[in-house]
Amino acid sequence: MSAYLRKYNIMRTIPILNIKTENQTTKTITFNDKLCSRAKPGQFIMLWIPRVDEIPLSIMNSQKGEVSVTVKAVGSATNSLNSMKKGQNIGVRGPFGNWFSTRSNKCLLIGGGVGIVPLYFLLKKIVGDDKQITFINGAKTENELLFMSSIKILCKNQTILSTTEDGSYGYKGIITESLTKILRQEKFDIIYACGPESMMRNVFDIAELYKIPLEASLERLMRCGIGLCGSCVIGQYRVCRDGPIFNSKQLRKIQDEFGFSRLDFNGKKIPI
Ligand SMILES: Cc1cc2nc3c(=O)[nH]c(=O)nc-3n(C[C@H](O)[C@H](O)[C@H](O)COP(=O)(O)OP(=O)(O)OC[C@H]3O[C@@H](n4cnc5c(N)ncnc54)[C@H](O)[C@@H]3O)c2cc1C
Ligand code: FES
Repeated sequence: MSAYLRKYNIMRTIPILNIKTENQTTKTITFNDKLCSRAKPGQFIMLWIPRVDEIPLSIMNSQKGEVSVTVKAVGSATNSLNSMKKGQNIGVRGPFGNWFSTRSNKCLLIGGGVGIVPLYFLLKKIVGDDKQITFINGAKTENELLFMSSIKILCKNQTILSTTEDGSYGYKGIITESLTKILRQEKFDIIYACGPESMMRNVFDIAELYKIPLEASLERLMRCGIGLCGSCVIGQYRVCRDGPIFNSKQLRKIQDEFGFSRLDFNGKKIPI
């Protein structure tokens, strides 16, 4: 085990400092952790909910020793985490994985649903860097568009394109329609994406068509988070160790699986 993992893989038991309700299903949980407060946008933690499970979560913010994750309740672990109270203990390992590059000048960020979490962290880090940013967010309905008021403040001199499937806010339709629309008019140096895998697969195909480099944050079931157990395998990669951020060149190598199949809890390949 590398020196990095020896240090960062140790579980720290930490009380929850603050909980913010984002909408009916989603909460932001904040805690103090020195190691995670150095995390870069795109990295994730393994968060242990006592007596329930340990799950991977992207870091939403880290500053001055405080770290936040934003969690959508979809199953037993996420529901249990979102019903915890301030002061109760969680366990944290990490941060793990790689992060988004930040060299490009004209950037397009596209996030669907709770997939916006790592992109919001990225936005906060790059927005003051004299970059030209277009932020596309999408969800089924208005109250699922996360962090809207803060994004509006951060992007006051940038472009925000919001999409809802029911038309309750912004453009009515699916998020990739907004992407195609803007790419017909403008060229970008890079696209950063996170969201449901079918959405990201469409973003990949569109980015290939317009010959724009892509960095996408992938999700797979994770157990160890450090490249040992194999539960997060996609093609030749382990998402926890080689990702979660994959660039266009890597995504081309896993084209047959990306957007189409994943391993279930028993290691069986199932359709997405
Ligand atoms: C690197 C990474 C970062 C993530 N960041 C976030 C985040 O910032 N916020 C957030 O809310 N969620 C995030 N997730 C997803 C989160 O880990 C899962 O929602 C959680 O593990 C589900 O656990 P559960 O016990 O509540 O649900 P389960 O009962 O385990 O599953 C409920 C449903 O979700 C599916 N599911 C479970 N885990 C995953 C997964 N890892 N990827 C895709 N589908 C899954 C199951 O197949 C099932 O259909 C991230 C996942 C990864 C791999
Ligand atoms: S979660 Fe174990 S190898 Fe990736």
